[in-house]
Amino acid sequence: MNKVKNTLFSNKPVTINKDSLIMAIESSCDETACAIVKGGREVLANVVASQIKIHEEYGGVIPEIAAREHLEAINVVIDETFKQAGVTGNDISAFAGTVGPGLVGCLLVGLNATKTLALAYDKPFIGVNHLNAHIAANFIDTNLEPPFISLLVSGGHTQIIKVSSYSDMEIIGETIDDAVGEAYDKVARLIGLPYPGGPKLDKLAQEGNPFAFKLPEAKVGEYDFSFSGLKTAVLRLVKSFNGKEMPVNDICASFQECVSSTLVKKVRKALETYNYKQVVLAGGVAANSEIRKKIFDLEKDGYKAYAPIMKYCTDNASMVASSAFFFDNTFDNINVEVFSRA
Ligand code: KG4
Ligand code: ZN
Repeated sequence: MNKVKNTLFSNKPVTINKDSLIMAIESSCDETACAIVKGGREVLANVVASQIKIHEEYGGVIPEIAAREHLEAINVVIDETFKQAGVTGNDISAFAGTVGPGLVGCLLVGLNATKTLALAYDKPFIGVNHLNAHIAANFIDTNLEPPFISLLVSGGHTQIIKVSSYSDMEIIGETIDDAVGEAYDKVARLIGLPYPGGPKLDKLAQEGNPFAFKLPEAKVGEYDFSFSGLKTAVLRLVKSFNGKEMPVNDICASFQECVSSTLVKKVRKALETYNYKQVVLAGGVAANSEIRKKIFDLEKDGYKAYAPIMKYCTDNASMVASSAFFFDNTFDNINVEVFSRA
């Protein structure tokens, strides 16, 4: 897995191999994160400053506030990462940063810091796609190699991706409306849970009966998803209790059952159709207990399943470093601009 990239000032070639250290920065949403990863798999330092407490007050992420918080945190987070890894900028082979998709003001803070480090230490700059990075979280501490089918479930995206090789990824299905994380957060809000509702809904669901209520599964393309109808069905169900005490745990469990079974049914179909033997769960919602369980249940049918450990599911910079190491990155120009949508 050797790559050759050029340094920025002196334009010298640098070979990136299994012993190389990549420092990465992630700031696409509400986490300011920095990490140093060796050979794409071994994390030497992983620092995350979360803004959840700040945005909780507003019930969601306020982009302008998030960007200002990134500015406050970024230098401290970078210093702390160097300290934890016990290395300096001179020991780093390349600097990687998230280019998009994400909140533009937020991305700008992290990407400019990355470019500055690369220039200051005269090292190559690698621009990373945030979605590839979520998938790459599965390379950390494993021996995973393509080909595999990936189910990417986050606050902004829901996709089934066929990863044939490190340089060949094809989206074979995606949501036509809400992303899974978005659906979780909206339904959580409906039943009165504070932001971010996804993890809280997951917790309550584990105490409820998943078959208490039959919720509708959308009829869309073979590998596509739609969750807006499901959200409306939950709203109707909530209203049907007319202010009377609701079986909240059962509602959460039934919603979770509907979402997880739909997702995994389509992933199984993709594995069968393309005759792939490995399945890889990725994105913030990969932290969900039931989706993880159903993905790992595929192992009973002979598939090998992967999911990142919890701290690499939600936004972090180790996954960005890993993506910079393994995947083809098409944003390696110092003049690359941040982008908001995939
Ligand atoms: O990937 P991520 O950290 O940020 C994006 O790039 O979107 O994902 C955040 C999303 C949020 O919608 C959050 O509610 C959801 O992941 N999430 C969960 C769980 N943990 C995080 N959703 C359901 N169950 C969970 N355990
Ligand atoms: Zn993310």
